Amino acid sequence: MKLTEQTRRQFCTHGCQAVSLAALGGAVATVLESCGGSSPTSASGGTALPTVTGAVGGGGGGITVTIDATSPLSPVGGLALVQSPAGTVLVAHTAQNTFTALSARCTHQACAVTNYAGNAFVCPCHGSQFDTSGRVLNGPATVPLSSYQTDFTNGVLTILA
Ligand code: FES
Repeated sequence: MKLTEQTRRQFCTHGCQAVSLAALGGAVATVLESCGGSSPTSASGGTALPTVTGAVGGGGGGITVTIDATSPLSPVGGLALVQSPAGTVLVAHTAQNTFTALSARCTHQACAVTNYAGNAFVCPCHGSQFDTSGRVLNGPATVPLSSYQTDFTNGVLTILA
């Protein structure tokens, strides 16, 4: 009888500890989420860019992207992250039939620049912002993003990355 009562007490004690730890875990998770670690949207980190899949190859090499009416790059002002087997490139549709393509590797500490705010590309790591030509708008980065030549013919953008 006494042993059973002790066992029950131990069970309750351990059970309560487990519940407390679970509750603490939930609180920690909530705090971590509110820090914006993986959140695509935050005040300084911008909003996640739409992604577009590019192909590699073709006559002149480079990355090719078909830009039809459904592409986020279709309208002038459109921004996207082009992902291809040759790498990831930031692309902006800056004027009719004119695009810029930039390295997505941040010049501050090499994070991937994956976000935007307004018309600027934003690095989610420390908030550096770059214009569509790669120039630094806000640090801590001080060096522009590398840019690549582009060609837009018959609805296909070729990035010579
Ligand atoms: S690595 Fe991009 S701002 Fe620091």
